[in-house]
Amino acid sequence: MDKIKLNKLPTHVAIIMDGNGRWAKLKKLKRVEGHSVGIESVREIITTTRELAIPYLTLYAFSKENWARPKDEVTTLLTLLSVYLEEELPLMMDQGICFNIVGELEDFPKKLQRQIAGVIQKTADNSNLHLNIALSYSGRREIIHAVKAIVEDVKKGVIKKIDEKIFKKYLYAGNIPDPDFLIRTSGEMRLSNFLLWQVAYTEIYVTETLWPDFRKKAYLEALREFTRRERRFGKVQEG
Ligand code: IPE
Ligand code: IPE
Ligand code: MG
Repeated sequence: MDKIKLNKLPTHVAIIMDGNGRWAKLKKLKRVEGHSVGIESVREIITTTRELAIPYLTLYAFSKENWARPKDEVTTLLTLLSVYLEEELPLMMDQGICFNIVGELEDFPKKLQRQIAGVIQKTADNSNLHLNIALSYSGRREIIHAVKAIVEDVKKGVIKKIDEKIFKKYLYAGNIPDPDFLIRTSGEMRLSNFLLWQVAYTEIYVTETLWPDFRKKAYLEALREFTRRERRFGKVQEG
């Protein structure tokens, strides 16, 4: 296999981690076991991102719409998140990972909110990799949230004009670059309400591989494909 062109890697990778349930079903396991094994993929993808010195990674872990899933599945997902954060914190400190979330933190149980806030605070000065996890996230709600904040700031006279640059600052992670590359596992050709504003010119890659099977090799394959893409941003093809 060709060597990956490191200078052509994306700056910001976003991933819709899908297919845990189908993976479990194929193995005749419970859906929640798919989520458990999916955590191993999360670890491997974060470590690889760090090794490749890609500075921004956003992972879609739980959508606003996912609250409508059966209660026991939601409870398991929250428990897995809490255990994950506890186990990963030392590694985040070792690897210089700055953790943040995008989404509606207030939807979570108070104890988990405090734990998340603690990890954000402890890792705030790390700068090797900015890891954003989308939790209780909805792209449409993010846009409405931004619009409301803009209206307030216009009323207060904090801002006088609204353009794309200013609008972006009001998004949850308004200070980071838009994703260059969006990966969705398990074959679904949809955005499922993820980063609607930010993906305007993002390169999209959909793989049939289910999230629990999406490990380093599959990730490198996806990144290699990105390095071969020609981005045009509406301009005429080069050469
Ligand atoms: C992704 O896997 C994880 C979450 C959405 C929390 P799914 O649970 O959506 O798995 P499928 O799509 O049912 O296979
Ligand atoms: C998208 O997956 C959300 C996450 C990966 C967290 P879903 O499984 O919820 O999306 P749909 O229902 O297939 O669109
Ligand atoms: Mg799914």
